[in-house]
Amino acid sequence: MRRPGLRARLGLALVAVAVAAVGLAAFIGNMGLSSRLERAARARLAVQAGHVASVAAAVHEGSGGWTPDARTELGHLAALDGLRLSLLLPDGRVVQAGPLPAGRLARAPVLLHGRRLATVSVSYANGVLLSKEDQQLKGSLDRLHLVAAGVAAFAALVVGLVLAEALSRPLRRIRATAERLERGDLEARVEAGGEPEVRAVGRALNRLAETLGHEEELRKESVADLAHELRTPVNGLLSRIEAAEDGLLPLPENLAAMHDEATRTARLLEDLSRLADAERPGLLLDKAPIDLAEVAKTVGQAFAARFTQAGITFSSGCTAAWALGDPERIEQVVANLLSNSLAYTEPGGKVSLTVGREGPEAFVEVADTGVGIDPEDLGHIYTRFWRGDRSGSRSTGGSGIGLAIVRELVRAHEGRIDVESTPGRGSRFKVVLPALQREALAGG
Ligand SMILES: Nc1ncnc2c1ncn2[C@@H]1O[C@H](COP(=O)(O)OP(=O)(O)O)[C@@H](O)[C@H]1O
Ligand SMILES: [Mg+2]
Repeated sequence: MRRPGLRARLGLALVAVAVAAVGLAAFIGNMGLSSRLERAARARLAVQAGHVASVAAAVHEGSGGWTPDARTELGHLAALDGLRLSLLLPDGRVVQAGPLPAGRLARAPVLLHGRRLATVSVSYANGVLLSKEDQQLKGSLDRLHLVAAGVAAFAALVVGLVLAEALSRPLRRIRATAERLERGDLEARVEAGGEPEVRAVGRALNRLAETLGHEEELRKESVADLAHELRTPVNGLLSRIEAAEDGLLPLPENLAAMHDEATRTARLLEDLSRLADAERPGLLLDKAPIDLAEVAKTVGQAFAARFTQAGITFSSGCTAAWALGDPERIEQVVANLLSNSLAYTEPGGKVSLTVGREGPEAFVEVADTGVGIDPEDLGHIYTRFWRGDRSGSRSTGGSGIGLAIVRELVRAHEGRIDVESTPGRGSRFKVVLPALQREALAGG
């Protein structure tokens, strides 16, 4: 079953409250009025009983007893006042004067010269205590309450509808905006307005739209970058194949260059899949307490020969530094930094790998005396596909993805990466992770 809308529910709720309030007021007012009217009526009846008693005494004296005539006369006299009566004699007999009284009774002693002749009981002839005027008063009060309830219900309905409309209008706007976003119109925004709570929802939706737009922008850029990156080696490959087909260049001489282009493409694809891996939300890390020094040493040893080959002096100084990490990923980080130093350092330069602890932190540092990075470029080095001017022309460079991977992996380890670089002097990359305390290691 569909739930009724905000307008219907708010309107009905307010009407219910208004009617209940007026109903309660009517009920309490009626009760108070009735009890007062009844008390007054009872007092009146008691006074009338006193009168009837003195008339009865006079009739008794005039007739010389409760003769049939006396009783008839007494009954007539009472009927004139709209009353019925009966007499209870001292010996317990009940003497009637006309029809028996009914309903609410009032009693009074019939006294003659200090002697009790009887007790008279009186009631109103119609058996109803309240007078006509009393009943009319009650009736008109009820009617007034009914009118009040109607007016209140109407007012509540109007207020409810207005209120619901004021509440739901901005909600409808938010819904319309969300639907536009859903259809792909990422420019859609909610206009500010409405209650603070609703405005907050609108602002949240706007932020979400902002993020969506940003993501979409990034996606488009990435695709464009990727196409651009792939175009260079693939075009090179194609032109060489065409040259070979046309007999412009003999195939054997071309083959090595073609192999290079193909390798570049393969490496780019490999890098891309690594980056996609690193950027996956909730990257599956196999974290365990590891000694960063051990991990770094392994990578350093693998690189040592390549540094020697490039005419670069490589040194490492590693002291134990424990942290929670995925050894394979940390290896990847160190390898990326070392391969950059290798690529961007001239023969005769120096590269050092250092691991250690600084207070609550463990760090891995790769420093080189290479070409360095321009200060205005430092903000871009972690952007995918971004490559410095100096490196763009280098045959040794990668595809501009290495540092993007490094940053993602370090982030996944709740760490950070700092860089200092001076063009022409060298660079220093420092990966910092929260260190594991010795006690924690001993305990766990
Ligand atoms: N050690 C370094 N010395 C000088 N420049 C560096 C160094 N490391 C990175 N860079 C600069 O940062 C850019 C991005 O690095 P990276 O993401 O590893 O891409 P790639 O190495 O494929 O060019 C490089 O192109 C280079 O300009
Ligand atoms: Mg690199």
